[in-house]
Amino acid sequence: MTDTTVIDVTSAGVNPYQVHIGHGVRQQIPEWLPHDAQKIMIVHPPILHARAEALREALSAQKEVVLAEVPEGESAKRIEVASFVWGLLGQLDFSRTDAIIGFGGGATTDLAGFIAANWLRGVPIVQVPTTVLGMVDAAIGGKTGINTTEGKNLVGAFHAPHAVVVDLDWLETLPENDIRAGLAEVVKCGFIKDPAILDLIEAQPDEAIRAGSDVLRELITRAIQVKADVVSDDFTDVGAREVLNYGHTLGHAIEHAERYLWRHGVAISIGMVF
Ligand code: GLY
Repeated sequence: MTDTTVIDVTSAGVNPYQVHIGHGVRQQIPEWLPHDAQKIMIVHPPILHARAEALREALSAQKEVVLAEVPEGESAKRIEVASFVWGLLGQLDFSRTDAIIGFGGGATTDLAGFIAANWLRGVPIVQVPTTVLGMVDAAIGGKTGINTTEGKNLVGAFHAPHAVVVDLDWLETLPENDIRAGLAEVVKCGFIKDPAILDLIEAQPDEAIRAGSDVLRELITRAIQVKADVVSDDFTDVGAREVLNYGHTLGHAIEHAERYLWRHGVAISIGMVF
């Protein structure tokens, strides 16, 4: 495990939390769970079943840990899926001191956050994103939500995580197209607040998309810093946070029209050019 970079998110009126970034940092997840939690539910997509099981094993010495498998990608962000998971939480007598882990890409962490925000009016969630998109955007800032027939993220809540764990090792098995698509949110941060991001990508485009490279680590860290600064200023999206929506109005419309078959990063790239 290499050194860990820690970024603080301190939005007014919300418990402060930290984003832990590094290789192998998942080994420290037990330290970052709420200490009082007796039960942990790991919400994950089918593709991460073996890894969720390994996480369950690692935590089971201290906690009672259950897995909740949800559909892959945007198809998880439906009220029926949230309702299924709330049913499991009810059967487990899941209390307000227990905690959920959102384990997967941006859609999974959006759904897991929404489930956590509404169960007993809010239980702690530790977000463990496994994609670039989840790491730099969805898992940070406490926006949670699901889609409706009429559009994306139309139902949701602001619910800040207890901690965010960004283990860069998950990216080793992420398809290159997913790294590229996730970098769209990184480029967005370059345009809105940190132009050094754009210089880095222009100087070393191959390293920027290579999992395990120092360049990709720096890009992800810089983008998380941008997001942390913005949401620290405006958690509930009444002003400054709007800048994070750059490219998203058209991007969301494209995703909806294409029935979520397009990657989010591809759609918002077109939105940013527009
Ligand atoms: N993804 C935009 C935001 O968090 O505000």
